[in-house]
Amino acid sequence: MDIQVTDQSVKDIACDALVVGAVSTKDQGQGKGVVLSEAGKTVDGLLDGLLSQISADGAFKGGAGEILAIYPMGKLAAKRVVLVGLGSQQKLDIQAFRHASAVARRHLQNTGAHDIALALHMDKAGIDVAQEVQAEVEGALLGLYTFRKYQHSDDSSSERGVSRISLVTSGASRDALNEVIRRGSALAEAANFARDLVNEPPIVLTPTELANRASAMAKQFGLECEILDRPQMEQLGMGGLLGVAKGSAEPPKFIILRYRGAPDKAGKGLALIGKGITFDSGGISIKPAQNMDTMKGDMAGAAAVIGAIQAIAALKPAMNVTVLVPATENMPGGSAYHPGDILRIMNGKTIEIVNTDAEGRLALADALSYAVKEGLSPIIDVATLTGGIVVALGSKMTGLFCNDEQLCQDIIAAGRAAGEKFWPMPLDEDYAEQIKSEIADIKQTGGREASSVTAAKILENFVDDAKWAHLDIAGTFYVDSKKPHQEKGATGVAVRTLAEFALRMAE
Ligand code: BES
Ligand code: ZN
Ligand code: ZN
Repeated sequence: MDIQVTDQSVKDIACDALVVGAVSTKDQGQGKGVVLSEAGKTVDGLLDGLLSQISADGAFKGGAGEILAIYPMGKLAAKRVVLVGLGSQQKLDIQAFRHASAVARRHLQNTGAHDIALALHMDKAGIDVAQEVQAEVEGALLGLYTFRKYQHSDDSSSERGVSRISLVTSGASRDALNEVIRRGSALAEAANFARDLVNEPPIVLTPTELANRASAMAKQFGLECEILDRPQMEQLGMGGLLGVAKGSAEPPKFIILRYRGAPDKAGKGLALIGKGITFDSGGISIKPAQNMDTMKGDMAGAAAVIGAIQAIAALKPAMNVTVLVPATENMPGGSAYHPGDILRIMNGKTIEIVNTDAEGRLALADALSYAVKEGLSPIIDVATLTGGIVVALGSKMTGLFCNDEQLCQDIIAAGRAAGEKFWPMPLDEDYAEQIKSEIADIKQTGGREASSVTAAKILENFVDDAKWAHLDIAGTFYVDSKKPHQEKGATGVAVRTLAEFALRMAE
């Protein structure tokens, strides 16, 4: 994709489609109406008030993601003008531009437009031009994403979709804009890489293949990569990961990626840990058939941290980052672990198994212990951990459990910049009651009540004194129907937030 900035006048931009923005205004003295972006106003003038007429008629209201195309018939160099809604004027933020860019990009994909220009900037809205341009680049690349590699294509035409995007802007330096284009592209490409990993069928994306893809990415981006096999895990005492892996014919892998942007810095730096269950059947405590196919995505946490370190490697902040991924299938094979088993985690603590479907916490416990042993801090783990978080927060927000107030706020702020929402959840000590065991150090599950909290409380047993956050993405890793701005399937959640968090930490 060719992405560049232009400060050409709106009238003269020769392209297949010129995209202009508009917000909806409500009450507040102005009455209901539509306010056009700067470029929109220019187009309106050139077309003798056509856009004003359309909105006065109520044919376009400026709602988020609303789209309307018109043909200027030679009055502009652009062949087509596309009006895209940015939503309410009062609520206008960076995410509105990211969303509008994605919607417009998807709308235009199969309409014969190859060369498009985005001119969404709203004067007097107080939005930083560089941040807006970065968001628009991200939106355009995220909106474009599809996963069709296994589908036969009968499209014999030479349709090639959008191949060039010009961002129409003035008021910021070229260098600054080129830098945010690079940043937005790196972040979106990393998120799309993570989406590919999640969308792959589990027969392809085994723990071995996940390790291969992580290793290939590491080579391409100059990261150190180490893959631990079963004997090394045995030596380290990773009884959680090895226990879960027992029911599968696929060998488990423990993936380690290292980015060293500050070799001399004191402290070992940030740890990013991702749950890497490449298929979760539930094991002996097998899941119902309905929706079991989505459990190919039970490695979305792994994909998120592998994607995040790819973006970090591309953007080179002065800091150190280590990614750890315990990867295995959870299957009910003849040698599978059982309810009733007791497993010993790498840090020596034992867990009484009561439900083999609560496998993520076991694999993560070993990875957290490994991070603590390496002296890494802060530690952030990402996991499709519990159905409970889906009940609590649905698909709009990721659950955030954190033992450090500042870290919690920093993750929420990084998420806000990335357009991803995190909601703080409790780690209150009263919940520890539910995971007491009579025969081991901890019980694996705490029952139906507050199940996402008790799962986090189990993880807390393995972080020692490190600053730690746990992101439960079970509700946000996947969308089950396509949206105007987004393909059905993996969302790539947390990739951009984690990379943004790292970039801010390095500053
Ligand atoms: N991978 C699942 C959690 C999950 C559910 C992810 C829905 C994505 C969508 C996890 O391993 C699991 O099965 N958790 C159980 C634990 C229970 C048996 C204690 C759950 O939360 O129901
Ligand atoms: Zn499970
Ligand atoms: Zn799982």
